[in-house]
Amino acid sequence: QDDIFKNVISHAKEYGYIFPSSEIYDGLSAVYDYAQNGVELKKNIREYWWKSMVQMHENIVGIDAAIFMHPTTWKASGHVDAFNDPLIDNKDSKKRYRADVLIEDYCEKLWQKAQKEIEKAKGRFGDAFNEEEFITTNPRVVEYLSKKKEILERMASGLDSGNLEDVKALIEELGIADPETGSKNWTDVRQFNLMFGTKLGASADTAMDLYLRPETAQGIFVNFLNVQKTGRMKIPFGIAQTGKAFRNEIVARQFIFRMREFEQMEMQFFVKPGEEMTYYEYWKETRLKWHLSLGLGKENYRFHDHEKLAHYANAAADIEFNFPFGFKELEGIHSRTDFDLKAHEQHSGKKLQFFDNETNSSYVPYVVETSVGLDRMFLSVFSKALQEETLEDGSTRTVLKLPSVLAPTKAAVLPLVKKDGLPEVAREIIEELKWDFNVAYDEKDAVGRRYRRQDALGTPFCITVDHQTLEDKTVTIRHRDTMQQDRVSITELRNIINEDVSM
Ligand code: GAP
Repeated sequence: QDDIFKNVISHAKEYGYIFPSSEIYDGLSAVYDYAQNGVELKKNIREYWWKSMVQMHENIVGIDAAIFMHPTTWKASGHVDAFNDPLIDNKDSKKRYRADVLIEDYCEKLWQKAQKEIEKAKGRFGDAFNEEEFITTNPRVVEYLSKKKEILERMASGLDSGNLEDVKALIEELGIADPETGSKNWTDVRQFNLMFGTKLGASADTAMDLYLRPETAQGIFVNFLNVQKTGRMKIPFGIAQTGKAFRNEIVARQFIFRMREFEQMEMQFFVKPGEEMTYYEYWKETRLKWHLSLGLGKENYRFHDHEKLAHYANAAADIEFNFPFGFKELEGIHSRTDFDLKAHEQHSGKKLQFFDNETNSSYVPYVVETSVGLDRMFLSVFSKALQEETLEDGSTRTVLKLPSVLAPTKAAVLPLVKKDGLPEVAREIIEELKWDFNVAYDEKDAVGRRYRRQDALGTPFCITVDHQTLEDKTVTIRHRDTMQQDRVSITELRNIINEDVSM
């Protein structure tokens, strides 16, 4: 698994998808730059999300709020007081960890043990296997799962009540060791706020302390009434937004999985109080379907219903993805009640209510939120797409099987040789296609090597211009995944590509 992940990181760099930030100065930890192909893939994922959320839903509109917000926003949202990570240091290795993550990783191992028992039993019982019954009756599985539940409950109660010594005691009792060195010599646990602070204004006495937003959601909440009134929106309706968010993550190792500057794609859906669970279920299913539509494999997704809820939520689930380092959160779906709007009402003194013409009364709507990290989406797509294939002749090829709709470049046009007028015809084809698609030109090296290069870049089609093209205006079109080549007329190219890559 480690090797697969290393491969993903080096492929992303070598093929112009992701570079470490400020690399000439040895980089900046947990900050990355999207390169010439990465920026296209990221843009296409964002557009794929926007289309499904905004364009396809009559009752969802978008906004683009500022990253800077009035500082009271973060007091109201609870981020100033509660957006903390519990940290712990190992005294021997001097490494710093999130105490909750250490405990959750321990629980994940218990879950994996239970899963192993389930798989074994599945093999033994075959079709007669009843998973639900097995989970509740098999003594070993019951023990693993109840231990996991108990540990998570104890951790939650320690964190919620601020009794951080209980959290440390739990780590010691479970014998959790530094994952890198094995040492069990821990410091106390302490809370660390994740928001980045900055200042607005030049003079020392008038400058205002600001935060870089740690989530895009609050820009939607404070604009709720503006959008509702000017857009004449009726409940239920949604507001969608994509944009940068910033968190001073302490344990930020897993490449673009956890970054300090990242992008979110969020949608807040405003509903009548009491109807939130219907929409919560609706959005869970709808969002999972969206992920599945990319074709990366149903087995790579699972729901994780939260047992421990954030202070603002009455139900919450993650869609987890099978990353190269295991199943981890990709998207959150939260039923946030009226927590945010009510808090902003209190702190601003302004009413944030919906006037219902039918009942002639006003109320503060409840909110169901869907929130997915764009960079995590990128990593999910990129890591599953990257494949090593053994071909019939025993040779191998590296191919980036990106969903065509997301691929940065849709087609590469390749003159078979650099003479006889073939490059000129290739250029003419590009002039035609570039109005509709990103297309690339490549004439360097033998055509077989150029095919391999485009495979590794994830380009779904290669169009080769040869001497026959000069006679009958046909070309070969090669499909990345099947490597099948068809002879088609130049005039058919646009339709063939369009059919495969359109959203
Ligand atoms: N408004 C709700 C909210 O922000 P969250 O679970 O904290 O909820 C939502 O974040 C999503 O944002 C996560 O599921 C993840 O995909 C992404 N995300 C959060 N922190 C991130 C980080 N440090 N780096 C990259 N993506 C992150």
